[in-house]
Amino acid sequence: MKSRESGRQPVRNFDRLFHGLNLAESVFFYPCCSSDVSQPIRFFAPHISRFCFADIQPPPVSELRKAVDIHEEHSVVISGYEFLQYSPEDVPRRELERIADLRALHNYSASYKGSEFEISWYQCDAVHALQQIDQVTVFCHRSDGPIWGEGSSGIPWLQKDLFSLVIDKIVDNGLLVTDGSCGHYPDTEHPHSPLWRDLRANKSDCPASMPEDFELNHARFRCLGTFLSRRGVRSYIWKISKPGALL
Ligand SMILES: C[S@@+](CC[C@H](N)C(=O)[O-])C[C@H]1O[C@@H](n2cnc3c(N)ncnc32)[C@H](O)[C@@H]1O
Repeated sequence: MKSRESGRQPVRNFDRLFHGLNLAESVFFYPCCSSDVSQPIRFFAPHISRFCFADIQPPPVSELRKAVDIHEEHSVVISGYEFLQYSPEDVPRRELERIADLRALHNYSASYKGSEFEISWYQCDAVHALQQIDQVTVFCHRSDGPIWGEGSSGIPWLQKDLFSLVIDKIVDNGLLVTDGSCGHYPDTEHPHSPLWRDLRANKSDCPASMPEDFELNHARFRCLGTFLSRRGVRSYIWKISKPGALL
């Protein structure tokens, strides 16, 4: 059982986080990331073989070049949209008509401090991007908002069917990194409210709160500690175990 304090602490032992996971095929996925690429890549590089970012904006190439060594790059067009499980109306998305034709995938081979990995930048709708990826080892989402406007995607990653898709994609013992943005159903308690309930307390100048562990869709969510802050808001790292998962 975790100590009462562990959820308040920054996670330091990353080898423990990834224990038992297949690092040769480990995928990090961060939708609506904008140019927030350096910190996550540098943090997770020893444990991840493919970093997948998704945004309707083009890749922040100069940011990437500053963060890592890029050895090779090429772009392709994403195909197979017609087989996607969500129709555009299922999940509210901003200006979907305008972005529906975006389907570029920019690939890079890169390294950082001796770790080699691929970077895939999906320049398309981020829900569509997630559907292109079989399994996710780390799902990361932060500093976004559930309401359209002021640059927020408005994509409800932590809500309803979309969160079920996220849970399905995350492997057994995989990780969720979130500051709770794109969560909070107003005024209602949900089993997974701990993901966003203390959003105000997530401000990094407040003491860290300790979110409770919970279960949802037969998956157990265990808060392991805090992640680096972004715009003064801290994220938490959750371990997701699926007791019914096939070995
Ligand atoms: C508030 S910003 C996210 C900031 C980022 N997480 C950070 O920490 O800097 C929202 C981002 O979502 C992107 N976006 C909006 N709608 C999107 C969609 N349907 N699919 C993919 N990206 C989208 C925007 O281009 C923008 O970069």
